Amino acid sequence: MAEQLETQAELYTPLYERALAWIGKEVTEPGLIVDAGSGPGVISCLFADAFPGARVVAVDGSGELLERARSRAERLGVADRFGTLTGELPQALDDLEYPADLLWASRSLHHLGDQQAALSAFADRLAPDGTLALMEGGLPMRWLPRDIGIGRPGLQARLDVLEEERFTRMRTELPGSVDVTEDWPALLTAAGLKHTRTRSFLLDLPAPAPDRARAVVAARLGRLREIVGDGLDAEDRATVDRLLDPQDPASVHRRTDLFVLTAHTVHTAVKPH
Ligand SMILES: C[S@@+](CC[C@H](N)C(=O)[O-])C[C@H]1O[C@@H](n2cnc3c(N)ncnc32)[C@H](O)[C@@H]1O
Repeated sequence: MAEQLETQAELYTPLYERALAWIGKEVTEPGLIVDAGSGPGVISCLFADAFPGARVVAVDGSGELLERARSRAERLGVADRFGTLTGELPQALDDLEYPADLLWASRSLHHLGDQQAALSAFADRLAPDGTLALMEGGLPMRWLPRDIGIGRPGLQARLDVLEEERFTRMRTELPGSVDVTEDWPALLTAAGLKHTRTRSFLLDLPAPAPDRARAVVAARLGRLREIVGDGLDAEDRATVDRLLDPQDPASVHRRTDLFVLTAHTVHTAVKPH
């Protein structure tokens, strides 16, 4: 999973760079940027690059992922202003030495049982006028046309449904799980912040996609087969097997119609004085 998170984030870099440039219009010269639920630190390092005057702290529950983040920061020459903090969110933020001028949380909040309480804790760790930038929601990744010439058309839509159901189960099983309506601006407001902007960013790698996109799609489809494959019928499972077989000309490794198209939404909110 660590490798998959890292290669996917690398592929998504153009999307993140546009999101960071957009955040930069609102947040000027932050002293401390915190990446809450940073994973392997691909985005944390993009922050270090986009904001050369800032110190960046990547926070995550996984020490192994933060090890990757530190190695990355070293490779990219930003280690002198890059730190990590290992621990459960949101409590781990209590160990920050200073309040954050910018706190970024991308696709991490939805792993926390009580999302509203976590947002309030994130807000507490912001400096006055500090910004919380939350990446949640958007569109599921698409990588194949509706009719791919093998199996029954619409496979990706059926995989999306199974993944949504699994996501709901995942949330229910989280410790301290609380149901909330995923109205992100309303949740940010309830956390005592002033919602400022919402925008979605597109990743559009048209067919024929480069090899690194194929690798990400193959890893993702392999993972989907593992986690929701049982919910597919026999015909769809056979199609997925063909798509994953590197020897098969119809596989994601070789077909010419493979693309990557997705959108992620970012919501920003500012802490009042
Ligand atoms: C889907 S990954 C997102 C990684 C990165 N932010 C990105 O957008 O590529 C979610 C990350 O949140 C971390 N995470 C999940 N639950 C956590 C928790 N309770 N405390 C701390 N980190 C957590 C995971 O270890 C993982 O790195």
